[in-house]
Amino acid sequence: MVDSFELSKIAGGVLAALLLIFLPKTFIDLARHSHGEIAGGYKLPEPSEAGGAAPEGGPAAPAAFDPAQVVLALPTASAENGAGSFKKCLACHSAEKGAASKAGPNLWGVLGRPHGSLADFKGYSDAMQGKGGDWTYADLAAFLHKPKEFVPGTKMIFAGISDTGELADVIAYIRTLADSPEPLPQAEAPAPQPEGAQPSAQPEGAPPPAQPESPASSP
Ligand code: HEC
Repeated sequence: MVDSFELSKIAGGVLAALLLIFLPKTFIDLARHSHGEIAGGYKLPEPSEAGGAAPEGGPAAPAAFDPAQVVLALPTASAENGAGSFKKCLACHSAEKGAASKAGPNLWGVLGRPHGSLADFKGYSDAMQGKGGDWTYADLAAFLHKPKEFVPGTKMIFAGISDTGELADVIAYIRTLADSPEPLPQAEAPAPQPEGAQPSAQPEGAPPPAQPESPASSP
């Protein structure tokens, strides 16, 4: 029969063993858990490469879209692929010369025609008719990217095409819907033209900011 001293020694040994076994495990669990929490709520890396200063972060966050990029992609865009994408427009638009308009205006010859001006189409929104100006490549790019942003109040219920390449293809196709398609935009940089060469994003009359890559500005 063991005496109580022996018993406490055994109990002590058992306790010590348990501690040895569970204490490290506890710490490991703790460490795992805190890591798990960190992983669950980690922050995305700061957008430091994107030029840093997105001023409010809010509406300007997906600022990457630039209609000028679509226009630049036009010379290499595929009207054939565009014809495929254009199928989603056919629910509302006819595209043959002289065809009757559907829910949306006939798009034959739309490039270069004034916004909201097709005589036989009665369904234009006030916003579209009041837009002013003609449909340019850049206008089409902006409108088809986000119809409601380019023409707030438009009646065209279409989410938009987000992909720059697809936009370029569709517009390359729309360009072919004409007796004599408009010339494609030049893929060249605007360096040779000293004045007013920036197509957009500049208040009119403001001199373009000094471009680092225009060495021969004045002959
Ligand atoms: C759900 C129907 C619908 C779909 C889909 C649709 N549109 Fe439209 N579209 C309209 C309506 C309606 C208008 C007139 C908008 C207004 O007046 O505000 C319009 C106007 C336009 C205009 C302006 C035409 C003009 O005469 O000023 C263009 C360009 C256009 N759509 C192109 C497209 C293209 C390209 C697609 C496919 C990528 C497309 N739309 C898809 C209904 C549609």
